[in-house]
Amino acid sequence: MARILTGIQSTGIPHLGNILGAIKPAIRMADEGDNEAFFFIADLHSLTTIKDRDERRRNILGVAAAWLAFGFDTSRHVLYRQSAIPEVTELTWYLNCFTPYPMLANAHSFKDKSDNPANVTGGLFTYPVLMAADIMLYDAHRVPVGKDQIQHLEMTRDIGNSFNHLMGETLVIPEVKLQEDTMYVPGTDGRKMSKSYGNTINIFEKDKALRKSVMSIVTDSKELEEPKDPDTCNVFSMYRLLATEDQTRDMAAKYRGGNYGYGHAKQELFELILDTFGKERERYAALMANPEDIDAELERGAEKARVVARSVLGRVREKLGY
Ligand code: ADP
Ligand code: TRP
Repeated sequence: MARILTGIQSTGIPHLGNILGAIKPAIRMADEGDNEAFFFIADLHSLTTIKDRDERRRNILGVAAAWLAFGFDTSRHVLYRQSAIPEVTELTWYLNCFTPYPMLANAHSFKDKSDNPANVTGGLFTYPVLMAADIMLYDAHRVPVGKDQIQHLEMTRDIGNSFNHLMGETLVIPEVKLQEDTMYVPGTDGRKMSKSYGNTINIFEKDKALRKSVMSIVTDSKELEEPKDPDTCNVFSMYRLLATEDQTRDMAAKYRGGNYGYGHAKQELFELILDTFGKERERYAALMANPEDIDAELERGAEKARVVARSVLGRVREKLGY
């Protein structure tokens, strides 16, 4: 059995790009073979950027509800909040003492901000060490991450090897698993959908707000009667990600035939989103209306994670003489 572990940023409510590009593929991977997945919400890391308590709480609930709504199976896998296992901060301290300064000074997460050192906190500087502790506290075998996190994972391996070399074999060194971008979801303005561009579609919104964001998709200004090119249209490229082949072919024909406006296409996309994600939207709303159910799920996960964390930390303390 392989233990797969990954941290999920809690910087906002997951949008359609996050769902198709990250959440659905990760749930599929977790369920492959006899894998066991430890997925956690990186709410300690979020303190490096988010200082508002209510915003953090909202994001944690929204992220957890999205994973649960899409069917992350908590009877088989483990979903928890990073902060629910404070043992991770103790391991971070130990690992800090095995981490050379130049390695941290070389991290992209730090270097990108270091032209203005007054904005760099100790938390941001040691961000990769907390990440190493996140992983090695749970004897994780495999850590799927996107390209931007590969350097952090290499640092985890270096820190773990340095600990094992000096203190004797203790920590499991994780394999890096590069998660190729499985899908490219365009945003309402045609650029990659991203929180930072403000071009997202949030499928969990109420009908009216969701329809409004679909209607905001940018198109050219061709008149209703004119034939249109589906292949250069933002509405069509989003539609085809969700539609069956037949539906895609039908819409392309309507574009080319004329007398079919972008408003019609947007309405069809809106209805397809409601159809495709009806069940998930319902589950999400039900969970968000009862945050104590989400807390209970996360606590159940934390109980399972804690057992592993305590045992690994015991091994580490023993080696260090504490
Ligand atoms: P954002 O760009 O909105 O800040 P993140 O960087 O937090 O999103 O991405 C979280 C996960 O979602 C990553 O695994 C990323 O690859 C995936 N993802 C984000 N945006 C898209 C998109 N437009 N298409 C496909 N996958 C995406
Ligand atoms: N830093 C990761 C990101 O920004 C999130 C993360 C925190 C993580 N701890 C982790 C990912 C441990 C994998 C393993 O996406």
